[in-house]
Amino acid sequence: MSASFSEHGDVAVITLDNPPVNGLGFATRSAIVEGVQRAVDDAAIRAIVLIGSGKGFSGGADIREFNTPKALQEPSLHTVIRNIESCAKPVIAAIHGLAMGGGLELALGCHYRVASAGAQIALPEVKLGILPGAGGTQRLPRMIGLQQALDMIVFGAPVRSEKLSATRLFDQMIDGDLLTGAIEFARQVADARPLPKVRDHQITEADAKTVLSAMRDRIQPQAAHYPALSRCIDAVEAAVTMPFEEGLTFERDQFLYLVQTTESKALRHAFFAERSASKIPGIGADIALRTINSAAVIGAGTMGAGIAMNFANAGIPVCMLETQHAALDKGVATIRKNYENTLKKGRLTQDQLDKRMSLISTTLDYATLAQANIVIEAVFEEMSVKETVFRRLSQVMKPGAILASNTSTLDVDRIAGFTSRPQDVIGTHFFSPANVMKLLEVVRGKATSDDVLATVMALAKKIGKTGVVSGVCDGFIGNRMIEQYLRQAFFLLEEGCLPAQVDGAIERFGFAMGPFRMSDLAGNDIGWHIRQRRRIEHPDMVYSLAGDKLCELGRYGQKTSAGWYDYQAGDRTSHPSDVVNQMILAHAADLGIQRRDVSDAEIVERLMYALVNEGAKILEEGIALRASDIDLVYLTGYGFPLYRGGPMFYAGCVGLAQVLAAIQGYASGPNGHAWQISSLLKHLADQGKTFQ
Ligand SMILES: NC(=O)c1ccc[n+]([C@@H]2O[C@H](COP(=O)([O-])OP(=O)(O)OC[C@H]3O[C@@H](n4cnc5c(N)ncnc54)[C@H](O)[C@@H]3O)[C@@H](O)[C@H]2O)c1
Repeated sequence: MSASFSEHGDVAVITLDNPPVNGLGFATRSAIVEGVQRAVDDAAIRAIVLIGSGKGFSGGADIREFNTPKALQEPSLHTVIRNIESCAKPVIAAIHGLAMGGGLELALGCHYRVASAGAQIALPEVKLGILPGAGGTQRLPRMIGLQQALDMIVFGAPVRSEKLSATRLFDQMIDGDLLTGAIEFARQVADARPLPKVRDHQITEADAKTVLSAMRDRIQPQAAHYPALSRCIDAVEAAVTMPFEEGLTFERDQFLYLVQTTESKALRHAFFAERSASKIPGIGADIALRTINSAAVIGAGTMGAGIAMNFANAGIPVCMLETQHAALDKGVATIRKNYENTLKKGRLTQDQLDKRMSLISTTLDYATLAQANIVIEAVFEEMSVKETVFRRLSQVMKPGAILASNTSTLDVDRIAGFTSRPQDVIGTHFFSPANVMKLLEVVRGKATSDDVLATVMALAKKIGKTGVVSGVCDGFIGNRMIEQYLRQAFFLLEEGCLPAQVDGAIERFGFAMGPFRMSDLAGNDIGWHIRQRRRIEHPDMVYSLAGDKLCELGRYGQKTSAGWYDYQAGDRTSHPSDVVNQMILAHAADLGIQRRDVSDAEIVERLMYALVNEGAKILEEGIALRASDIDLVYLTGYGFPLYRGGPMFYAGCVGLAQVLAAIQGYASGPNGHAWQISSLLKHLADQGKTFQ
């Protein structure tokens, strides 16, 4: 049973009991229907209260049943709601904590609703690219008005119950114990007839047309990529223009259309990817985690300062260490400036700013850090510097402290070898700006112990990051793949493109930024150094020299106001540069290349399939635990369009056989040497499978 039945004199109480959020799975739906029937059959019962146990009323569909036959098994949520609505005795929903999605639709099917303050009320289906499919779009506008219902349905954000207390949604707000209040309310309405039904209300707002068209204008910029937005508005419009039953059918049709769109599949994939990423095969949820209530950061530069902010934001005291006072002062000043900017935007109060700054301390002396539970090293990207730091940390840190490195490319196993406790060493690869970007690659060394890995994954969540486990390899998951993508982008410059053409194609595909704008932001010198190292380590790997020639001109990117594009001081807008374009043409001429017109489709294929091919190798080598982890890295760290679900998911949508055929074509064309085709990709393509 996922709902219990009890009698309180003449009132029956059905308590939803399906932790953690009373998801409306098959057993719960059945138990509600049975409970209602039992109350109807009992002559002594005059009214029925429906309430949630634990955290709240109901979080909606039980996601554990997604894509299983149980999700569709009768009684469906539609049937449950019809049963309740047509029940001869009043049914009262008593809401606390949360009523979301199907949970709110269930409540809207009841004759009355009472609520405690502080409950989160939402129809968040749009975030999965669908719409509320059990009457939500028809009933909610009837209760809270068109504008507010549109805001909730089209954007999916929760609204606190007390903010809706003046609407028809709640018949009463309950101050004290919710169940007691709900039973009292039930007795007051026990004899009321006819029973009120949300469906019987008419929407009579005179300005309905204007409100709907203003919302259409508002979503216009996103509409092409997120079809659910306009379908949500269409469904709400149906609540205004159609009789109730017709509106329900219209809503159902929109739901069925949306659920099979690639965009919705991609959004649901991303949602599940996020949930699976924290599951590590062989490590149970019962593993004992190490306590993290103090932290230290070595290096207060770009990354160190941002990393320290994450701890302060989460209420964890953090101490930064440098070798010079001036560097510490600079780090603290950067942090303060960042917080002050947030304060100016109204997203932080002065109190919060003071509290966060008070959690950040500085030192030049390792002894001060010795008691911290975790230390994250963010010094220069040079093995010899890392070695000095880790030898020192190994000596001073208390036993059991986690020793983490923020290295982007260096071998975490070698770093662990500088300590006498490699089991405590792990990589924490933050992305810049570290206080903003969601992604945290958690790099598991050969010797990293399970509890260290699990603790850092839990810490990621605590500091608001999306943790994704990566094995040790050069560049880990994200940067190893981006290198192949950038190689292709650079070759395209030699073959016939200019930076703005490549960026334009990739941005139209949906990336936040094309490869050249991205390199200008990150600093072209970083890639330059990596290529110099690669040419020594992997002499067989050929890179275009275009990027090197750019750096030789001192064009490091936004920081020098000149990179692949020109920049004006204090402005991030990129302007195509004659100097760069001439340099590219001259470079191609030096190579004797006959430049050609390259289509947008080729640009997208070469860059995307370079990601896919390298991603497949990463999967094959066990560097990533699952394909969806790779997608999550790209969605949260590299601006990959959410509605395309990440590179591996995207490849599945195209069809791996088609991806493989295209790669084989490119492998026999100009710069074909850059394609070493993944055997996993070949294997899956031959079998007609995808990466998932
Ligand atoms: N910048 C990025 O986008 C980015 C992204 C991810 C990871 N990383 C990695 O983070 C690390 C730091 O990069 P950054 O961009 O913050 O560099 P940075 O040059 O801005 O900062 C490095 C800081 O470390 C300090 N430092 C150097 N040697 C030290 C020592 N022995 N003891 C204490 N402090 C020392 C320096 O004074 C400097 O303030 C590197 O390993 C880098 O690869 C950088």
